[in-house]
Amino acid sequence: MSAGLKGIKTVRDFALEGKVVFLRLDLNVPMEDGKITDENRITASLPTIKYCMEHGAKIVMASHLGRPKTKDDKEFSLEPVAKRLQEHLNAEVILVEEPDSDAPVHLLPSLKKNQLILLENVRFEAGETKDSIEFAQKIANYAEIYINDAFGASHRAHATIHALPSVMKEKGIGFLIEKEINMLDSLLTNPKRPYIAVMGGAKVSDKMPVIEKLMDIVDGFIIGGAMAYTFLKAQGVSVGNSLVEADKVRYCKEMIERIAARDKTILLPVDHVATKAFGDVANAHTTKDVVIPDGEMALDIGPQTIRNYSAALKEAGTIFWNGPMGVFENPAFSKGTFGVAKAIAESNATKIVGGGDSAAAAEMSGYADKMTHISTGGGASLEYLQGDKLPGLEILRTKARPASNYE
Ligand code: 3PG
Repeated sequence: MSAGLKGIKTVRDFALEGKVVFLRLDLNVPMEDGKITDENRITASLPTIKYCMEHGAKIVMASHLGRPKTKDDKEFSLEPVAKRLQEHLNAEVILVEEPDSDAPVHLLPSLKKNQLILLENVRFEAGETKDSIEFAQKIANYAEIYINDAFGASHRAHATIHALPSVMKEKGIGFLIEKEINMLDSLLTNPKRPYIAVMGGAKVSDKMPVIEKLMDIVDGFIIGGAMAYTFLKAQGVSVGNSLVEADKVRYCKEMIERIAARDKTILLPVDHVATKAFGDVANAHTTKDVVIPDGEMALDIGPQTIRNYSAALKEAGTIFWNGPMGVFENPAFSKGTFGVAKAIAESNATKIVGGGDSAAAAEMSGYADKMTHISTGGGASLEYLQGDKLPGLEILRTKARPASNYE
């Protein structure tokens, strides 16, 4: 068992037969016009659900979806998710419309083996994001065992993640969280060397805490995405109209120096795909060197940069990838991200993808199945790696911290 799981029970530790198991899942899947566009989080939740079914539990599932403002925001209904679960599980999923109602109390006594309850989006209940003990208590009145398998939401001190397990005696995690923590812990303790962190995305400011934490752990950084231009600016390179966080230029300069002082490497783009305006495909071209012409902005790394990054990744023992190299959703600016995805996929390293945009990029690149692990949590995986305590995990430890620590 890895260090991050110390003092936490897993679903295997409970006698489930005939017991009411409350399963907090992260079924927050992307949707377009009421259709699920990526069901990874659903399929990743199935092993724990199936285990509970096979062991005779009476199951009440719950999840959030998006960030609804009121319970009338029906576009955030879990109905499409309930349908998909039904198909995957070959069982009836009964959707309870009011997450805080006592409908489960009435349904549970006659619940059949091939029936499961799913509460409607827990964020339809205002108490959820307020970590409300009252809302938690309503669920605790009928639940006997609490299982958290919502890794992607475990950095939130919300009622079904935090207040609920704080009032329940029997509590633990499911297989998804167990795997996530084992994988992320393998990045923190004894990673195979060299260990390379590939960081991308728009903002340096979002990644600063994790960069700080990784600085002492990794052997090198590879930087792409818009955040690279703040680093290049810090080196005195002309970056045209590319996105730059002016107040982070100094930090980037210091970071480059601190990395060098530690005898570690940082690779930055040496060429780019630049154009005149965001999304302007007609004028997209590869720059001849690192300089981005005046009046232009870079939206992807260039071919020489892809070659440089691929060569470094080939030698890696461990790779952590978080953040795309460019505006990969647009084919004109996707080559950098997909090229790096290919290089990661082809390396013999342990390769872990840190959720969110990088998970979507890995999927779109066609190399997702070549990765060792793709985290289901974007924010949660970064917070865990930067050393933050996740409220949803801490509350499950034998010696849990009091709820007031998260207010
Ligand atoms: C996510 O998508 O990162 C998780 O489901 C958490 O969602 P949230 O950022 O809306 O809390």
